[in-house]
Amino acid sequence: MVTAAGGAATGRTMAGEIQLADRVTRINVSPTMAVLQEAERFKARGADVVDFGPGEPDFPTPNHIKRAAVKALEENKTKYTPTAGIAPLRQAICDWHTAQFGSAYQPAEVTVTVGGKHAIYNAVCSLVNPGDEVIFAAPYWVSYPDIVKCADGKPVVVPTQEHDGFCLRAEQLERAITPRTRIAIANSPNNPTGAVIPRDEFAKIFEVCSRKGIWLLSDECYSHFVYGDAKPYSVGSLPGAKPRLIIAGSCSKTFAMTGWRIGYALAPAPVIEAMIKLESQSTSNPTSIAQYAALEALRGPMDSVKSMLAEYSKRRERILAGLRALPGVTCAAPQGAFYVFPNISAHLRPLIPTDTAMAKQLLERENVAVVPGEAFGAPGHLRLSYATSMERIEEGLRRLASFFNQKM
Ligand SMILES: Cc1ncc(COP(=O)(O)O)c(C=O)c1O
Repeated sequence: MVTAAGGAATGRTMAGEIQLADRVTRINVSPTMAVLQEAERFKARGADVVDFGPGEPDFPTPNHIKRAAVKALEENKTKYTPTAGIAPLRQAICDWHTAQFGSAYQPAEVTVTVGGKHAIYNAVCSLVNPGDEVIFAAPYWVSYPDIVKCADGKPVVVPTQEHDGFCLRAEQLERAITPRTRIAIANSPNNPTGAVIPRDEFAKIFEVCSRKGIWLLSDECYSHFVYGDAKPYSVGSLPGAKPRLIIAGSCSKTFAMTGWRIGYALAPAPVIEAMIKLESQSTSNPTSIAQYAALEALRGPMDSVKSMLAEYSKRRERILAGLRALPGVTCAAPQGAFYVFPNISAHLRPLIPTDTAMAKQLLERENVAVVPGEAFGAPGHLRLSYATSMERIEEGLRRLASFFNQKM
């Protein structure tokens, strides 16, 4: 049992007799994980849960990538690797990024990490001193505040507007910058809203960061899932951007490789060296055979990415139409990623006062799992992932209609 012993005064929490470090007590377990666990409990009891919770592709890792890992295993490539990753993979990340986005990185400016989250974590730990501020937009990916707090930094949240498609604007960012600001994080396409920052806005955001002498950390984990006329974009392609830019990328979503845990950071060599130092004293290196799989993902055909995008695109249209047909629910059209973020605030009432309470009710009454907006700093919303089959989306929409059509 965890009890708060002297917690209010010291911020410390006791687990039984064990006193944990402040670093751990000031952060939370990922709220999306909590929802997933609750949904799993219902499933274990035999409930037919429509699960809109997962933040990962429902597609399998493409076969050619899996085969590369098997081959690496058979060739006994099972030993430590260089901390920053095997040399061909560092080169492949640079080449792939150049081919996809028109950037110009060299292997000394890349490190392979244990997922994109690890790249963000190590970048923040490498640049933030106690009390330094890190700015990001709300709704935000759940891990940003906790990563910043873990690094003794101060999260500074800039709200974005639903009527503006939840887009981070350079002007807002500039207003939030203080002498203590060290990093601004931009996440496009965004989790949880699917917002995509237009290229000209990205250029303005970069200009603000550069003029103010702060780092821009661009989280590109959903780069290849953009809809309509939008094309994958990296601010790394902007002339002159490299000296003030850190890019966090990942194989997780693009290649349906969440469990393999391969991500990367692109940044000026001194930042990369600092990140490698941290990696060398924590993970040593990302898993060797997963690195060979990632090498194949980046060098091999991209057909599977195209087919996943085509499928997400159909689902996006269906779920958006279904949500917009619900009484009192509004929903900005996501331009990327695989999430929708409806506003359900018109349905909050004394018996269901918050989105968290609503998520609970939805699970209990309709067996529909969603993530409450509060987890992303955006009360009054729910996040639904459409990384699930069209058939489950149809069933989920039926259940949501039954829930929201009950008398308010
Ligand atoms: C916005 C965003 N950035 C980064 C990540 C990290 O993904 P991974 O560590 O699997 O590469 C995620 C995962 O959900 C995410 O949603």
